[in-house]
Amino acid sequence: EKGGYKHFMLKEIHEQPRAIADTIRGRVLPDASKVVYKELGISFEDLALTQRIYLVACGTSYHACLIGKYMIENMAETPVEVDIASEFRYRNVPFEEGSLFIAITQSGETADTLAALRFAKKSRVKTLAICNVVGSTASREADGVFYTHSGPEIGVASTKAFTCQIVALYLLTLAMAKAKRIFTADLYSGFLRHLIMLPRMAEEALKLEDKIMELAKEVYRKQNFLYLGRGPLYPVALEGALKLKEISYIHAEGYPAGEMKHGPIALVEEGFPVVFIVSDDLYFDKTLSNMQEIKARDGFIITISDSKDEKLKKLSDRFIYVEGINTYLNTVLFTIPLQLLAYHVAVLRGCDVDQPRNLAKSVTVE
Ligand code: F6R
Repeated sequence: EKGGYKHFMLKEIHEQPRAIADTIRGRVLPDASKVVYKELGISFEDLALTQRIYLVACGTSYHACLIGKYMIENMAETPVEVDIASEFRYRNVPFEEGSLFIAITQSGETADTLAALRFAKKSRVKTLAICNVVGSTASREADGVFYTHSGPEIGVASTKAFTCQIVALYLLTLAMAKAKRIFTADLYSGFLRHLIMLPRMAEEALKLEDKIMELAKEVYRKQNFLYLGRGPLYPVALEGALKLKEISYIHAEGYPAGEMKHGPIALVEEGFPVVFIVSDDLYFDKTLSNMQEIKARDGFIITISDSKDEKLKKLSDRFIYVEGINTYLNTVLFTIPLQLLAYHVAVLRGCDVDQPRNLAKSVTVE
């Protein structure tokens, strides 16, 4: 049942290329000219008329929402609010005309996410669920449903469901950008061609496993970790930290790298592990200077990057190169080594990876 893998989590990490391909299949024309709208669970007209989006979820699915915000605001030029479902449901949000509420939930059964969805429906806002489990409560109650096709996720820690949620958001963003006539046809099909490359590139990222295993052996006795990233890589930092803490019980925090000076840097002392998730983007130089500050305090810098910049490599104690595609899809590719790191650290610590203590796969109570 685990397909030769020691744990469901490891199997599910390795299933990502296929899960992503299944989520894309049937939704993009083979020549990359177009997203097939009717598969999105919402009409072309509704997408064109959407003025504001609310993305709401819990846990790992909330991290997907945060990535969605960067995608939708930048590519579809539509403002996005992101909230944790347990907060949103009690916030009495005054929805504006033209709002679209999107719940992201693997199980479709998370109590707080369902309550937030019901609140939106009661407020007569159009609702969409990005959901993995067919026929789940969220998929039945939302006006539209966009299924991720990850296949069943058994490991308590979400892996393939998360990366497929990012793919769903990317498809939705491109469809919206098209509906709003934001992109030229070339730009649009360029972004779709990138998406078609993603399963193969995810396969490449999985080949980092041996290197990650070596790294895990070096760090698995550490008691604290800090994960830092900026822009769309900030939620990736949050997700890397959550994966580590939930299955290895090591205290880990994710932070936007630019916030480091406002508090977390106080933690850094000799050997303190800091994982930088960094890309050659507008934040690059700023993140390098954050790294210098960690270095000056003898922190242990682990870098995950698609850049081969020499300064970056020199500042890093351990450097994991990941071949990238574009800013948005790199969130998927950079997540893979972080999942593997959490997994191998947890195994070395003798933890029950598939059934971490105190956690349930689907949180159906408030
Ligand atoms: C973390 C994890 C949880 C879930 C959260 C939401 O690895 O699995 O944080 O992401 O409980 O679950 P869904 O997506 O089913 O609503």
